[in-house]
Amino acid sequence: MTSTTSDIAGLVKQLQGLKASDVQDEETRKSLFEAARDVTFTLESPGDSIQRIAYIVRAQGKTYCPDLKLFEILSQKEHSASSTQQLAETTKADEVLLGRILRYLASVGMIEEVGEDEWAATNITKTLSVPGLKAGIYHNHDNILPCWQVLPEFLAETKYQNPSDGAHSPFQKGHRTDQMPFDWALAVPSRFDNFLQWMMANREGQKMFLDVYPFEKELCHGLKPEIPLFVDVGGGIGHQCLALKQRIPHAPGRVINQDLPPAIAQAIPCEGVEHTIHDFMAEQPIKGARAYYLRNIMHDWPDDKCIIILQRIIEVMDKDSVILIDDMVLPNQGAHWRATQLDLAMMAGLAAMERTEKQWYSMLDAAGLKVEKIYTYTPELRDSIIVAVPK
Ligand SMILES: C[S@@+](CC[C@H](N)C(=O)[O-])C[C@H]1O[C@@H](n2cnc3c(N)ncnc32)[C@H](O)[C@@H]1O
Repeated sequence: MTSTTSDIAGLVKQLQGLKASDVQDEETRKSLFEAARDVTFTLESPGDSIQRIAYIVRAQGKTYCPDLKLFEILSQKEHSASSTQQLAETTKADEVLLGRILRYLASVGMIEEVGEDEWAATNITKTLSVPGLKAGIYHNHDNILPCWQVLPEFLAETKYQNPSDGAHSPFQKGHRTDQMPFDWALAVPSRFDNFLQWMMANREGQKMFLDVYPFEKELCHGLKPEIPLFVDVGGGIGHQCLALKQRIPHAPGRVINQDLPPAIAQAIPCEGVEHTIHDFMAEQPIKGARAYYLRNIMHDWPDDKCIIILQRIIEVMDKDSVILIDDMVLPNQGAHWRATQLDLAMMAGLAAMERTEKQWYSMLDAAGLKVEKIYTYTPELRDSIIVAVPK
């Protein structure tokens, strides 16, 4: 199909200035966003492709120095712009340096250039000023980027084998450490804090497993209060236990969050939730619970370690127990770009992986589990609940 110059000019005019708030529903916004993104690929010249792929300033996230709080300052001034000079006075940064950073940020839509040396907030500026989302930039820059940088060299050195040993991975090479990733992250509060904040913020407003899994119907029947109902294994600061208590406050049975000491030290207090220290590689102290729940745990580990974690649970399950794995289940074909980039981040950062449906079945089978059902609750990442029981 060829379009005339005036057709295209009309299309460009229609698209310019279109905002998320102009689109009525989320499905339409998403399909428009994906189509616009795909068309940028098909329209790219070779020069455009190299600029997008080779210049990783945006991917580096912190290049624009978020410590200067430019996004916060601009976002607070809802209806007025700031000059470079004003921003230099507020941030105490050199005006010439700041002008260069601001020009870059405006050229990639992160702020708006409303006049010469005049800057204002866009929707993206506001996003980048939200603390939990900003923590995602810090986490990716400080914790993951060093691993990305050495990934090609690491893969060449290991003759292009799939990284599957968390103790010898791009992580140790990138961070020049012998430590395992979680030991390294837990050793310094800011590393782990950014990670935790990001883990919570990046899910906000999205569906969660209780939206699709009939928890009460499947698990609460005939339960006595002293029986453990829900054990969140590696549950971080306990936000899923809290969500369960809020969603089904009358559910009988104990609700237990388990994690390592630094996470438990920051756990969210909630009546009826027990926060306990437990290393999931060791013997599981809570026997015969109805549900052992693992969210985003399996994707942090290669298959052999996942199997150990699962076996520690299988050993203490009784006939009514189930394992609920809350993780992405990639389709065997046609995975979304958000999911594939997370998979590569897992490879670089943890020698781990996001699994396709086939890979899940194979790993769980090797652990001695059979899949009863998979409930998928996000369309792009394919976040899902895998209900598994011993074979
Ligand atoms: C990706 S986070 C997921 C946290 C939480 N399940 C969630 O979905 O937000 C991984 C969690 O595993 C915990 N973890 C790592 N190694 C652990 C171990 N050996 N025993 C228990 N928890 C561990 C970390 O402290 C962290 O909270």
